[in-house]
This record gives sequence, structure tokens and C-alpha cells, in this order.
Amino acid sequence: MISTTEISKDVYRISVFVPEFNMKLSHFLVKDDEPLLFHAGLRSMFPVLREEISRLIDISKIRHIGFSHFESDECGALNQWLELAPAAQPVCGLVGALVSVNDFSIRPARVLSRDDILLTGRFRFRFIPTPHVPHGWDAGVLFEESEQTLFCSDLFHQWGHLKPATADSIMECCKDALLESEAGPFANYVPYTHHTGRVLQTLAEYKPKTLAVMHGSTYYGDGAQALRDLAIVMRDVLGPKEQPIKP
Ligand SMILES: [Fe+2]
Ligand SMILES: [Fe+2]
Repeated sequence: MISTTEISKDVYRISVFVPEFNMKLSHFLVKDDEPLLFHAGLRSMFPVLREEISRLIDISKIRHIGFSHFESDECGALNQWLELAPAAQPVCGLVGALVSVNDFSIRPARVLSRDDILLTGRFRFRFIPTPHVPHGWDAGVLFEESEQTLFCSDLFHQWGHLKPATADSIMECCKDALLESEAGPFANYVPYTHHTGRVLQTLAEYKPKTLAVMHGSTYYGDGAQALRDLAIVMRDVLGPKEQPIKP
């Protein structure tokens, strides 16, 4: 079940619902002078994604393939896209490039440092490293400054076949998703470290107006408040609990 939604002008959310996991996997195509795909997706989804995205753009023209961290739903099909788009390059942080991507990818990554800007034409993507948020040493996010869209990967994860985008609060769904994950085989999906609150606060300071969420509805609204609310939810659900110290 694949569906495409233009979440803002020239930004497309291509989403696949996986009933077995009760989860949507969303990939974002940004049409610009140098088109960018954020989330290369699973290898197993590549044929269906390729077909859907080829309705939106000449795939050979894709220039940048971004993702948050090295994991199959983020970049499993990276090489398949690179084979079809000869000028395309992976885009990630230094840790991602040196630890995983440059070994895996058929072409080396363009490495972005904190606050580096990737210009694709009219869109400006700022790279923000977010180690272990949502997870992975190499994690980072892209913030598109002209439309104030945060491509936030697994942050704000929501289970279910939800609508593509909403201006209603997604926090209850996010909290439920975290609680449900912690109670089942996907426990420890998201670590909670002494950096977590600070990283979310840093993202809030960019004041996103749109949260381009990988698993769940895109959110339109006060992204800064949503990030601060998420920090509280994550602290409450995942933060250290008082543990008796054994003598
Ligand atoms: Fe992930
Ligand atoms: Fe994910």
C-alpha cells in the first residue's frame, strides 16, 4: 500500500504501509534544481518506490540521497538509487561516512559537518548531528530553512495507518508508540542518554513549522513546542527510574 502526498510545494512524502508491523515507512522527495531523496528505503521496497517516484521525477536526475543513520529503512536501497542516478551522492555526517556509508556505498558520501548547508536550488538544508537521537552514533537530521521543515527520521514515531499529514497534536500517538515499543520485542528502540534532552532542545531552537516524520503523520504546527513536549515524553517513558542500590 503506497501513497504519495505533497506535504509542501515540491516536497513529496512517499509512504508505504506495512501491515505486519502496523507501521508506515515514509520517504521524502524534494524536487529542486538538484533533487534530494531523504530515506533511500529498504531494498525490498525499492521496486515499488522506484515505480512511484518515477511518476514524480526522472530518477536519473536525483543528486542527493540523505538519511539520518545507517539502518536498512534509512539507506538499505542506497546503492540501487545510486546505480540509477549517476550524479547522485549519499549525504551524511562524518561518523556515518567513515563508520559505515563509505564502506557500503558504491560512491563515497558527501560529508556534512554541524551547520553545513546543502543548497539544492531554492531549498537550503542545514545538517544537525544528533548522536543517539533517535538512535545510532551517526544520527543526524536535515532542517530545510526556507520552509522550516525538519526531516526528523524516527523521532515522533507513531504506529498505525494514520493520515499522511495533520495539524492536530501527535504527542499522544507518539507517547503510546514509545510505551508500546518498550512493552514488546522492539523495546530499547530509542535510547535515553544525558544528551537526549539537549539534542531535542537544540532542534526546537530552529523552530520547525513542519515535522517530516518517517513513521507516522507529517505534522504542521509549532514544531518547537512539539520537540519540547517530546523531550518530556521521552524523559518520562525512557528516563532513568529510581533503582535500589544493592549493597
Ligand atoms: Fe532508525
Ligand atoms: Fe525508521
